[in-house]
Amino acid sequence: MEKHFKRTLITTALPYANGPVHIGHLAGVYVPADIYARYLRLKGEEVFMIGGSDEHGVPITLLARKEGVSPQNVVDRYHGMIKKAFEDFGITFDIYSRTTSEIHYKTASDFFRVLYNKGVFIEKSSEQYYDEEAHQFLADRYITGTCPHCGNERAYGDQCESCGTSLNPTDLLDPKSAISGSVPVMRETKHWYLPLNQYEAFLRQWILEEHKEWKTNVYGQCKSWLDMGLQPRAVSRDLNWGIPVPVEGADGKVLYVWFGAPIGYISNTKELCPDNWETWWKDPETKIVHFIGKDNIVFHCIVFPAMLKAEGTYNLPQNVPANEFLNLEGNKISTSKNWAVWLHEYLEDMPGKQDVLRYVLTANAPETKDNDFTWKDFQARNNNELVAILGNFVNRALVLTGKYFDGVVPPLADLTDYDRETLNYFSHVKAEVGRLLDTFHFRDAQKEAMNLARIGNKYLADMEPWKLAKTNMPRVATVMNIALQITANLSIAFEPFLPDSMKKLTQMLNTAPLGWNRLGDTQLLKPGHTLGKAELLFEKIEDNLIQVQIQKLQNREKENEAANYRAKPVRETIYIDDFAKLDIRTGAVLDCIKVPKADKLLQFLIDDGLDKRTILSGVAAHYQPEELIGKQVCFVANLAPRKLKGVLSEGMILYAEDADGRLVAVSPETSVRPGSEVK
Ligand code: 2FM
Ligand code: ZN
Repeated sequence: MEKHFKRTLITTALPYANGPVHIGHLAGVYVPADIYARYLRLKGEEVFMIGGSDEHGVPITLLARKEGVSPQNVVDRYHGMIKKAFEDFGITFDIYSRTTSEIHYKTASDFFRVLYNKGVFIEKSSEQYYDEEAHQFLADRYITGTCPHCGNERAYGDQCESCGTSLNPTDLLDPKSAISGSVPVMRETKHWYLPLNQYEAFLRQWILEEHKEWKTNVYGQCKSWLDMGLQPRAVSRDLNWGIPVPVEGADGKVLYVWFGAPIGYISNTKELCPDNWETWWKDPETKIVHFIGKDNIVFHCIVFPAMLKAEGTYNLPQNVPANEFLNLEGNKISTSKNWAVWLHEYLEDMPGKQDVLRYVLTANAPETKDNDFTWKDFQARNNNELVAILGNFVNRALVLTGKYFDGVVPPLADLTDYDRETLNYFSHVKAEVGRLLDTFHFRDAQKEAMNLARIGNKYLADMEPWKLAKTNMPRVATVMNIALQITANLSIAFEPFLPDSMKKLTQMLNTAPLGWNRLGDTQLLKPGHTLGKAELLFEKIEDNLIQVQIQKLQNREKENEAANYRAKPVRETIYIDDFAKLDIRTGAVLDCIKVPKADKLLQFLIDDGLDKRTILSGVAAHYQPEELIGKQVCFVANLAPRKLKGVLSEGMILYAEDADGRLVAVSPETSVRPGSEVK
């Protein structure tokens, strides 16, 4: 038997305030958290749902620099937008604050100081890249250079976006500062590290032994982190945007954004209830649940718990029901590529249809694997489920009662076996939906609620009260009474999922909102009770509305292609002497093979007129190895040789890139002798 807690603290990942929020955010974190919060509140439990914007971190400073404004300007703008979008979608935060609040600065600094005074941190100096022109250390994202794996010349210090490899800044060939363009130098800097390795035994026991009930995607990710072995992690950074490290000798250093962000949950609770916040974090009768996306698992299951354990007075979360990712029309949602359905834009295009999106995102929630959102599926779920099942049933129940009984709940007469079977189904719904919500299976819980509407539809279709009305009005009264009891039950079962629509429905039923404990009651509406006015709960979405959305995405795809094309303006002017340094030659491709363990690389053997040489190119996605054998290509013959994946590459073959990013080898128009100069 699971322990029952007195109260629940629900936290939701704090989104970075460097862009608006989109359907991926809603599906992964905020809709499930809101369903859970609403469900517990309906049960009469004590609940807080905590949210806020994450306003520190390098991406915010990068955007500010790009826009030529201050980071504060960026976060003020997006915090407002994000907060409003959540309100518009009925996400019922008890507080939505921000990590630039005064109370958060103090809470995070105090937390650091407690750990510091306890001697938890390791202080360590290391060499990091420093920009001598901009006079600052460079965060990993601020360093660009050539990827040692695929040769992409625009890789970042933390990752190459071309081949997807995680990198350290020192892995980059020809590193450059993204701030000044200068070549950075190595300089010593001191940082504070959280020795995660010292918490490994505790984490193994707590997660792997005591929380086997966690979702398999979460448990599995934790296990693989723990099995790899944990390393100390720096919790400070050299940056001028963030919470200053609150100890002596830390000038120019701020708390790492991921050290501060989860403490934001605590700060926001303090802001919400300054007098009893500790009850929510330290009383063993409080259950803490973190709602997050899969990219945040390590921070919420490993790093933050280790911080809390080191501090010593806080509860650890009982569960971390992280979701996987939602894709859009087959592609990864991307803010920089504008590949997203932005919440504010959705509401402009589909006013009043918040619940439709909530419904579709839950029906398709990426609970166990990445899932895809498509506009066609959105339309089908609206038309075939919300309109045809739920809306249709509710409408028939209310309209027929209006027609035959002047909108007054009719009395029950003798029950048939079928009536009893239908009524029996109710008691099962409450237990089943409850069990699914308690275990974070939101998709199935919503399906189960929809089944109740399905049963209602079938009941009316089988009973055909419109036919019975000609011969047997007492029987019509019984049928309509049962249909109305189902309707009232639906208004409870769907409240956590479709809050706006269920508010409308309670008005149509002319009742006060009914609590979760009444779900399953077959006499929610007493005979003689007068109903309100019947209205349509949902409306059909026509093809043209969907076409507009699909077109919008197609236009963005085209804009992206065009932008990619335009994004490479002619580089700075060079002089003939510069050009003369390049020795470009023609060569004949003698052989070509794939490079083992490198997805992108092909290894060419070239006849360069004098000899044979090996050249590596990152074109495996564009050519099969055999395709270029026997062809002539142009290559830079005097490029300093360098090793890629253990193979020495002696030059660079030239390719032209088309608008789709496809690379095509450049060759002389007619065949020439290998080794001919290109000038
Ligand atoms: O991944 C993100 O968007 C982070 N800003 C989430 C932070 S969650 C928490 F720790 F605050
Ligand atoms: Zn790469």
